[in-house]
Amino acid sequence: MKVFLTGGAGFIGSHTALVLVEAGHDVVVYDNLSNASRESLNRVERLTGGRIAFIEGDIRDGARLDRVFAESDIDAVIHFAGLKAVGESTEQPLAYYENNVAGTLTLCHAMDRANLRTLVFSSSATVYAESREMPLPEDAPTGRPTNPYGSSKLMIEWLLRDLQTADPRWSIALLRYFNPVGAHESGRIGEDPQGRPNNLLPFISQVAVGRLPELAVYGNDYSTRDGTGVRDYIHVMDLAAGHRAALDAIAGSAGLWTWNLGTGRGYSVLEMIRAFENVADREIAYRIAPRRPGDVAECWADASRAERDLGWRAERGLEEIMRDAWRWQRENPEGYRDAG
Ligand code: NAD
Ligand code: WQD
Repeated sequence: MKVFLTGGAGFIGSHTALVLVEAGHDVVVYDNLSNASRESLNRVERLTGGRIAFIEGDIRDGARLDRVFAESDIDAVIHFAGLKAVGESTEQPLAYYENNVAGTLTLCHAMDRANLRTLVFSSSATVYAESREMPLPEDAPTGRPTNPYGSSKLMIEWLLRDLQTADPRWSIALLRYFNPVGAHESGRIGEDPQGRPNNLLPFISQVAVGRLPELAVYGNDYSTRDGTGVRDYIHVMDLAAGHRAALDAIAGSAGLWTWNLGTGRGYSVLEMIRAFENVADREIAYRIAPRRPGDVAECWADASRAERDLGWRAERGLEEIMRDAWRWQRENPEGYRDAG
């Protein structure tokens, strides 16, 4: 298949590009490089020995998408492009709705004009309503997200559902990721946040490598086993394999499907710190800080639907997550700015 990856130069997109090239697919990446480096794809090409067609472009540019779709015979789109910083989204809601929601609308219009109606969308566990019942199955209620980023993901899910209902020729997968972490086992590609990381594992790695002095643990008074927040951390290579499985499953049959991509297991912040320390053989300086607004105590997936429908499940455990995250950070302390 010829697969068009919006946002394919980013963290999850680049790992998925690698998995797709290795599986024999043709990959076209379309990315405005607002939060990524072209170097990620150079490295994917070197790792796989394959070629990736790269187009620097924006999903909000419908005329450009029309030209690209007219020139290349695309079979399916995996739509990663979007802004994803939760805190920033509360300060710049319009930028988030414009990039994520309006960008998706523009993309869907262009796909429709090109008779291209197979779409895999990067959704998020953030769409679920806060719940005491864990794990979360796909039919758990969705909620009123606590920030514009989360709202944009839920709005896109609604938009895609309405589109598929109105025009049943569409084939759409909503993939709800839990907490993607880790890196390719080579240490050549990984997560490269610009500025101060928002997420736990990149923060821990940057403390380990000396870029940051200490980690603030956001609250130790939750009703969890050690008082710190519990999440379902999924290795990015498992996540990438989940995209390949979802694409294989939906290509050629119309419908809309929702799948959780998680491991079905939760770990606390303190467990994550300890697991990282064991692998990296160094101490992570941390202090207990107040809770972060909008955080829930616990969140992990019921991942059984993906296993049943797709024959996919996460294979990599916490040790591999930490080993690969640490190798990437150690060998690229400044991320892709250490190009070579
Ligand atoms: P990322 O920022 O590394 O990748 C997103 C990519 O999209 C970047 O390469 C960026 O340059 C590009 N982009 C942004 N706006 C664009 C636009 N208007 N036009 C073209 N390209 C644009 O993020 P990621 O972690 O790889 O996330 C990929 C997707 O998965 C996002 O939609 C994100 O919301 C979603 N997601 C991420 C997580 C997570 O924790 N990483 C969890 C759940 C869902
Ligand atoms: C994990 C745990 C924090 C940083 C976010 C988005 C979600 C999805 C994934 C995109 C929590 C704690 C964190 C720190 C800490 N993204 N923590 N100190 O909040 O579960 O999910 O990323 O869709 O929408 O909200 O991930 O990595 O930020 O936090 O103690 O410096 O680590 O409180 O318990 P989160 P996270």
